[in-house]
Amino acid sequence: MTGEVAPAGRILPGPPDPPMKTQYYTATSLDGFIADPGHSLDWLLQFGMTDDYPDFIRDVGAVAMGSATYEWVLESLGGAEAGEPWPYAQPTWVFTSRDLPAVPGADVRFVSGDVRPVHERMVAEAAGKNVWLVGGGDLVGQFCDHGLVDELIVTVAPVTLGGGAPLLPRRIATPPLRLVSATPLANTFVQIRYEVPRD
Ligand SMILES: NC(=O)c1ccc[n+]([C@@H]2O[C@H](COP(=O)([O-])OP(=O)(O)OC[C@H]3O[C@@H](n4cnc5c(N)ncnc54)[C@H](OP(=O)(O)O)[C@@H]3O)[C@@H](O)[C@H]2O)c1
Repeated sequence: MTGEVAPAGRILPGPPDPPMKTQYYTATSLDGFIADPGHSLDWLLQFGMTDDYPDFIRDVGAVAMGSATYEWVLESLGGAEAGEPWPYAQPTWVFTSRDLPAVPGADVRFVSGDVRPVHERMVAEAAGKNVWLVGGGDLVGQFCDHGLVDELIVTVAPVTLGGGAPLLPRRIATPPLRLVSATPLANTFVQIRYEVPRD
């Protein structure tokens, strides 16, 4: 809660904090793929980082991803045992039906099946901060299927891939997503923020 001190020294109530959101924040090619058919992100990494990430991650209290995304992160660290620090300070839930290696010291919980009880735990542990669904698209779709996604924040890269891992393989058409903003980033991308309509 924000507030200001009134002349008499009393704290006036400020506007209430915005409610936490479950957000799908990702980058996509113009033709709707978040990784190429070989699970590579070279097409994205050629541009370097955009500067919106620090503001986004500051408000995140819990992270979820599927196993292909987790394995990509592990590979980028040089493997689970390479000694590279796990990139997220927040507790991270990894959806998998397999036994995957864990990064020593990282707060990673392996889960499978129904996303609803996991989302409940994530919201509780996020303690008022946002839940970040990293991807992939079908996992985010599973959260959408249960009305658990509030916002899509999609950074569109100026490339087409012709195939690969889909952004969000679900039909969300009626009612459509609600446009919140469209912002050019780094003279290269457009970041589009959509709200998922509620019944
Ligand atoms: N462009 C970007 O910013 C961005 C962001 C995120 C990811 N990526 C990339 O996009 C690709 C995404 O790959 P993907 O589409 O295959 O998605 P993914 O969600 O990363 O992985 C899919 C796998 O997760 C497991 N899984 C999903 N839901 C589950 C559930 N409810 N219970 C148990 N296991 C479940 C299954 O594998 P198992 O059960 O066999 O383990 C499934 O095959 C990756 O290459 C990743 O690196 C890109």
